[in-house]
Amino acid sequence: MCGIIGYVGDQSALDISLQGLRRLEYRGYDSSGIAVVGAGELRTARRAGKLANLEKLLAENPEPDPMPGTTGMGHTRWATHGGPTDVNAHPHIDCTGAIAVIHNGIIENFALLRAELEAGGHELASETDTEVVAHLLEVELAGDPDPDPDPAAVSHPLAAALRRVCRRLAGAFTLVVVHRDFPEVVVGARRNSPLVVGLGEGESFLASDVSAFIAHTREAMEIGQDQVVEARRDGVIVTDFEGRPVQNRRYHVDWDASAAEKGGYPYFMLKEINEQPTALADTLRGRLSPQGAIVLDEERLSAQDFRDVDKVFIVACGTAYHAGLIAKYAIEHWTRLPCEVEMASEFRYRDPVLDRSTLVIAISQSGETLDTLMAVKHAREQKARVLAICNTNGSTIPRESDAVLYTHCGPEVGVASTKTFLGQVAACLLVGLYLAQVRGVLYGDEVAAYVERLQRMPELVERTLGRLEPIRELARELVDAKAVLFLGRHVGYPVALEGALKLKELAYMHAEGFPAGELKHGPIALIEPGLPVLVVVPSPRGRANLHDKIVSNIQEVRARGARTIVIAEDGDVAVEPYADHVIRVPETTSLFAPLVTTLPLQVFACELALARGLDVDQPRNLAKSVTVE
Ligand code: AGP
Repeated sequence: MCGIIGYVGDQSALDISLQGLRRLEYRGYDSSGIAVVGAGELRTARRAGKLANLEKLLAENPEPDPMPGTTGMGHTRWATHGGPTDVNAHPHIDCTGAIAVIHNGIIENFALLRAELEAGGHELASETDTEVVAHLLEVELAGDPDPDPDPAAVSHPLAAALRRVCRRLAGAFTLVVVHRDFPEVVVGARRNSPLVVGLGEGESFLASDVSAFIAHTREAMEIGQDQVVEARRDGVIVTDFEGRPVQNRRYHVDWDASAAEKGGYPYFMLKEINEQPTALADTLRGRLSPQGAIVLDEERLSAQDFRDVDKVFIVACGTAYHAGLIAKYAIEHWTRLPCEVEMASEFRYRDPVLDRSTLVIAISQSGETLDTLMAVKHAREQKARVLAICNTNGSTIPRESDAVLYTHCGPEVGVASTKTFLGQVAACLLVGLYLAQVRGVLYGDEVAAYVERLQRMPELVERTLGRLEPIRELARELVDAKAVLFLGRHVGYPVALEGALKLKELAYMHAEGFPAGELKHGPIALIEPGLPVLVVVPSPRGRANLHDKIVSNIQEVRARGARTIVIAEDGDVAVEPYADHVIRVPETTSLFAPLVTTLPLQVFACELALARGLDVDQPRNLAKSVTVE
């Protein structure tokens, strides 16, 4: 939810922190702050609102270097405990003014700890849960040395103190700490929230994700659950919370800084919409064999594991949940396995029936969504096998799963998911076809026919993007609409939900998605003259009668005065008499249609939000990665 960068090296920690925060701001933009250690001082600066407010504050400082020093950290906040004010902005400091702390997550037992600290004479200035950590560190550093059980562990006192504090914390946290008297070190810790290390030449970075330091180094290291990292110029030492040294996986980040920049577009979202053909091609690459088979050899489950499955559960949130709904249609159709799709936040609270022959597919762009992570943990406790579909190398959900299928969409910075939705849908289709292939429920030539059609999808996505000007014009025309309904059937229904979600989050409009057949059971009462209704029409070559039924549904809403905007494939003339506007998409296989029908809805929401003067990269109240439950 919040973005974190820590640095120790020879460069200006202020510059590095600001650069990192610019890349991390998508994670939260309620406030931001920086702490720098240098010349025997700890200096902090923080401001409510977007990063620009902090930059302005720093620019107004008359000193040539307002925060001198080469050790420091920065934070961009998505508020949980305490409103988005200057006082609640991170970093938070202890009573002595020597220790600064930044935090992502929620410390669930903070009230108890705060009461204890206040009883001991500490004065806490903010309403945040985070501030207790600064004061607990103060207590620890003033007290006895670390009683680490492993005498071989060589630790900095700040790391040892942080370990002792972490052992007292409940909840989810990434913490990064600097100390006025220890400019040689930046210390971090994590539980259920993301933290990665960047390993540079003579410098080290701690960050919520690699985009924060990718301009400086592409060598990264994962930090595991319940670990503390001590970062110095010449490398890092990682231990668990008990002080035992651990060896973590190092990896090379295979995209560069330009992938995390706007590349000439005014907004990341516009860039990411246009990157969809490449994102889709990259996700499919290497997974479709020239012989027409599905090759999923990079994940860690065997073909036999897939043969043993007798039920599939999909858990995810938001857009990823919509990708999961599409997967259900494909998996049940191709494999004849029962498949349930569940919002991850509900999953573990209703006793789902799982066992070792259940395959749970957890879909998450960030790999850090806490609701999804908790669902994964719950599934594994019930002995189910978990396959993650994820876009972020080194993130938590893949690490906590039995296997992972990465979508290779590149970094997605816009808060609204676009290209990664297409990657998730493609990955789900691959898993569905693979299950059918290894279980022998589809013939080899049937799989080959799907493979051939999947290979053509990136080009169809490209063609679709090239013909969306009419929906842009329409979006601008509808700038003052009060609400919009989205209807669909079959895989068009999750697409309708996704269209509505995009419009809600970007344009702050009331928008609902319904299965078109459900309309007459209640929602049709919402139809009033002029209400825009977008309808995602299935192919007339698809399921028998389905097309005719949705044409009837379009007539029903039009008869009640709705303005009908119909997304239909080329050559579908049957919709024309009942459509006020027809947006054309190329012909596709029914189950692949979401890869093209979603695009006009993304563009519609984006254009309408822009016409309303809104920031489509950073919609209000949202954050890219939701690391609280
Ligand atoms: C969609 O535009 C949102 N960004 C949101 O619904 C998102 O899909 C959801 O929070 C899940 O995120 P994840 O894929 O990173 O787990």
